[in-house]
Amino acid sequence: MKKSVRRAVIAGNWKMNNTPAQTTALINEMKPLVAGADCDVVLCVPFVDIAAAVEAAKGSNIKIGAENVHFKASGAYTGEVSADMLVACGVEYVVIGHSERRQYFGETDQTVNLRSLAALNAGLKAIICVGETLEQRELGYTETLLKYQTKMALTGVTKEQLKNVIIAYEPVWAIGTGVTATADQADEGNGFVRAAIAEAYGEEAAEAVTVQYGGSMNAKNAEELVSKVNVDGGLIGGASLKAADFSVIVKAASEG
Ligand code: PGA
Repeated sequence: MKKSVRRAVIAGNWKMNNTPAQTTALINEMKPLVAGADCDVVLCVPFVDIAAAVEAAKGSNIKIGAENVHFKASGAYTGEVSADMLVACGVEYVVIGHSERRQYFGETDQTVNLRSLAALNAGLKAIICVGETLEQRELGYTETLLKYQTKMALTGVTKEQLKNVIIAYEPVWAIGTGVTATADQADEGNGFVRAAIAEAYGEEAAEAVTVQYGGSMNAKNAEELVSKVNVDGGLIGGASLKAADFSVIVKAASEG
């Protein structure tokens, strides 16, 4: 199976940006610009913006995602949101294990796994983030780490559920820094992720999984990145806050 049969996914990760009113305005601006895209278009937004985002995206090709999900169904977990709650609000995707959550909020490979299982069991599509720090890269651990994080995140995930899994390879040193991985580094990292999936689920299943690149992907570099055989779209931070830039990336993935 080749890249041509995998569907590219361009997902915006808004992080802690935009009020509900700003959400409505930005999605209304984006809708005509991404209409007819030949890739899946997703916007992952803060919890408080979900209702506005779902409403604004109605009737368009934009799908809405959340930026995190808790692994318990309900209970005494102040400040958390369950997978069923997200589904009930019209959410279809969720970002799990973003490096900012790993770095600032104590996310571990184990909690990433628990959150992934909860999301998949609820029927959500999980965008699971993996990636090495600069220090790990310089020590030569990139392949080992990416394979370990991928396998840990997918522990207990069935082959059937794998169809709802997207992995985003996001080198930590490239996120929000303006330093993008070269297209060859992105392709290699995504290849390590795919190899890990192949080791766990077989070659054929691995070939069908969408593996995104993320980290300072923008309107200028998207075309080259998505042209690589292992890069099936991207997880976009800063550039997903501007309709014009985001639509250029969607166009690049449509043609990639
Ligand atoms: P960035 O963020 O595009 O702003 O680097 C990517 C991400 O964190 O998903």
